[in-house]
Parts: sequence; C-alpha cells; structure tokens
Amino acid sequence: MVELLPLTDIEPQTVEDLLDAAFGPDRFGRTAYRIREGVDAVPALSFALVDDAALIGTIQCWPVAHRSADGVATPLVMVGPVAVRPDVQGGGHGRALMAHMLDAAESRADGALMMIGDPEYYGRFFGFAADATGAWDLPGPFERRRLLARATNGHALPTGAGMIGPR
Ligand SMILES: CC(C)(COP(=O)(O)OP(=O)(O)OC[C@H]1O[C@@H](n2cnc3c(N)ncnc32)[C@H](O)[C@@H]1OP(=O)(O)O)[C@@H](O)C(=O)NCCC(=O)NCCS
Repeated sequence: MVELLPLTDIEPQTVEDLLDAAFGPDRFGRTAYRIREGVDAVPALSFALVDDAALIGTIQCWPVAHRSADGVATPLVMVGPVAVRPDVQGGGHGRALMAHMLDAAESRADGALMMIGDPEYYGRFFGFAADATGAWDLPGPFERRRLLARATNGHALPTGAGMIGPR
C-alpha cells in the first residue's frame, strides 16, 4: 500500500540514497543547492511516498527569498527536489507528491513557490511558469526557461530584478 507521510518520519540517509538514485551523485553541484544553502527544509511542505515500508518518492521545500538591489526581501518557497525511485517512475507518483504539496501550500506556504524544473512537466500539470521570473537571478548557472514560479496562499510573485537565495 502506498502512503504519503511527512518527510520528517523518514531516516535522512534513506532520503539521500533515493536522491542519489534519481539525480546521480553529482547533484550537489547544482545551482538549486546553492539557492538554499544552510537552510532546513520546511517540515509542513516536505513529504515522502512509502510503499510497504520502502521509500519510493520524496518532495522537499525550502525557505528562500527574492532580494532586490535596494535590499527588499520577498519570502519565497523553493520546491524540489521532487524525486521518484527510477524503477517506479512514470506511475503517477511524482504527480501525487506535487499535488499533495500544492494542496498543503495553499494554506501553509509563507511565500509564493519557485523551482528549477522542466516546464513541460511542471507547467503542464501544476501551473508553474517562467513568465514572472525573467528578471530574477540565481547564484549559479541556469536555463532561464527552467526558472519557474507559481503564486499560492495569497502570495503574489515578485516580478522585478532580484537575486534568489537562502532566507
Ligand atoms: C520527474 C519525476 C519526479 C516525475 O515523477 P514520475 O512519477 O516519474 O512522473 P508521473 O508518473 O507523475 O508523470 C508522468 C508524466 O509526466 C511526464 N514527465 C515526466 N518527467 C518529465 C519531464 N522531465 N519533462 C516532461 N514530461 C515529463 C511523463 O512523460 C508522463 O506523461 P504522460 O502521463 O503523458 O505519459 C521523476 O521522473 C524523477 O524523479 N525523475 C528524476 C529526477 C528529476 O528529474 N526530478 C525533477 C527535477 S526537481
């Protein structure tokens, strides 16, 4: 039976092993890791999918911010990684994790959502778009079309120039 649990119920090394399997061990060099360097995942927005006690998927969210050149900080929530164990990908688990997180975010997120991801997946199914992020900057290389965002819980997206980094 597949269950959705808070990610805090899962042993941290088990989560790291799943992320290695989904993304490969070079994942730490990614710009997404620099954006949320030194902060802890948001427990209320981070979940695990468990099938008969085996971890098959995770989603984590992080407290980050958009900072304009004149020092105005707007809180954002960075979504990701979203990871599904390679042998069970394509079975709807990624969508289930995202849908659960988005539902929780509607009442609990303390900022709009942003992520680095494929618009073909996160736009098509979940309403993320790059429209608002054209003037945003990140602390590392990225493809602009993959810098996505989505308003939630009454939090609008900052559209001006700004650097995204840890809160
Ligand atoms: C991306 C990922 C989370 C999706 O989860 P999943 O359980 O495999 O996907 P789902 O079953 O929910 O959705 C499958 C659908 O999404 C599509 N899809 C999956 N990944 C996609 C991508 N990167 N781009 C476009 N479409 C994608 C599939 O083609 C499929 O479409 P269909 O229903 O029309 O056939 C998972 O494949 C994964 O962990 N991949 C490796 C890590 C990764 O790239 N994570 C995302 C970046 S944060």
